Amino acid sequence: LQNEALDSISKTQDLKKLQEIKVSFLGKKGSLTSVLRGMGKLSKEERPIVGEVANRVRSSITAAIEQKNEELEAKAIEKQLEDEAIDVTLPGRPVQVGGKHVLTKLIEEIEDLFIGMGFEVQEGPEVETDFFNFEALNLPPNHPARDMQDTFYITNELLLRTHTSPVQARTMREYKGKKPVKMICPGKVYRRDNDDATHSHQFTQIEGLYIDRNVRMSDLKGVLNNFAKKIFGQDREIRLRPSFFPFTEPSVEMDISCKICGGKGCSVCKKSGWIEILGAGMVHPKVLEMAGYDSKEFSGFAFGMGPDRIAMLKYGIDDIRQFYVNDTRFLKQYHNA
Ligand code: PHE
Repeated sequence: LQNEALDSISKTQDLKKLQEIKVSFLGKKGSLTSVLRGMGKLSKEERPIVGEVANRVRSSITAAIEQKNEELEAKAIEKQLEDEAIDVTLPGRPVQVGGKHVLTKLIEEIEDLFIGMGFEVQEGPEVETDFFNFEALNLPPNHPARDMQDTFYITNELLLRTHTSPVQARTMREYKGKKPVKMICPGKVYRRDNDDATHSHQFTQIEGLYIDRNVRMSDLKGVLNNFAKKIFGQDREIRLRPSFFPFTEPSVEMDISCKICGGKGCSVCKKSGWIEILGAGMVHPKVLEMAGYDSKEFSGFAFGMGPDRIAMLKYGIDDIRQFYVNDTRFLKQYHNA
């Protein structure tokens, strides 16, 4: 019996089978157990001899099982470690590398340029009050120019800002009509428009404002000229045309000379040789006064541009919606631009 048990224990390579062997010899109905049970039938002289042998057999089987059990468990752990080992020599799966959005990059480029000219960068809320979006900028209720800006109203008083100009109104008030202001404010703006290749209900603007003593139109022209040359190339010319904005007087629109893209987007400027880039002007005295600046002491200029349009011209992109549908095939092209 002992030999039989030890033999099968040494042969088994499986923890479950080892357990079965244990039961078959030492369990309630096991063969050694039945030997021990049968001892009652033996004579007084035989009993201690058989008992001693049976106990020896039991402890040797138990010891063998324990030893085997340890052995098998160690092997199982080793196998698990082996199975779960990471093969560091396998080639890796390529990781998709993201990048900054083409508009983000252009806005940062423009920000850097203006920071270099001493402007600071300000931000303001996209959900604005009617007051800051319109009234503080000389667009009282029923002003016809409000139509230019088809507005998403949230309530009677709250709206999605239609331009970044309210940030200027806020900054001027913050500076309490005392300090000079020299800032730009980039951000998203919203207008009720049917989206197509050249219209989007959401787009970006960068607006600039410079208020100080003796700020003149020639300062505006100098700053814009510098901007145009840095963004589009040193060989570009700018020209200012008279225009109208309620918050500036006089108001102008700035064109730059063509060849700016040399690609698809250029069809727009072939005829005249100029393309419109932004609106600007000298801050309206009323706007200065409303913000607490004495318009006899202070003067200033403001300008507003659309990075979407600038990016379209700079890179020859023919559909504004490309900026917002997040097609990675489109976006990837500009990661290294
Ligand atoms: N706020 C104007 C717009 O949204 C742009 C602008 C800004 C024009 C500042 C003049 C001066 O169209």
